[in-house]
Amino acid sequence: AIDPQFTENREQVDTHKGHDVWGPVEEPEKLGIHGTHVAVDFDICLADGACLEDCPVDVFEWVETPGHPESEKKADPANETQCIDCMLCVDVCPVDAIDVDAS
Ligand code: SF4
Ligand code: F3S
Ligand code: ZN
Repeated sequence: AIDPQFTENREQVDTHKGHDVWGPVEEPEKLGIHGTHVAVDFDICLADGACLEDCPVDVFEWVETPGHPESEKKADPANETQCIDCMLCVDVCPVDAIDVDAS
């Protein structure tokens, strides 16, 4: 599962479409965590898609990740500022790849 303490245990190494990327990143096999308020561990996500289907405000968009061992696309929290903290995505992800900091 995604580490809920990732902002303390990882370093922000990049940005992507306006959100933070938390390393380590070694493309294409290791992609890190995308987002901060809505965070997706790209190394755990296996492209189930439930988060995209269920998010009421369309926070997530697919990004292509060819060569990643788990899946060749990931749910990117492209619109994390729109999040309304409903926690649906956290509940539906079968591999616990998502953390939402609703505090
Ligand atoms: Fe979307 Fe709710 Fe997840 Fe926020 S907590 S990203 S609003 S499903
Ligand atoms: Fe990935 Fe979980 Fe969404 S596996 S596509 S973050 S439901
Ligand atoms: Zn991203």
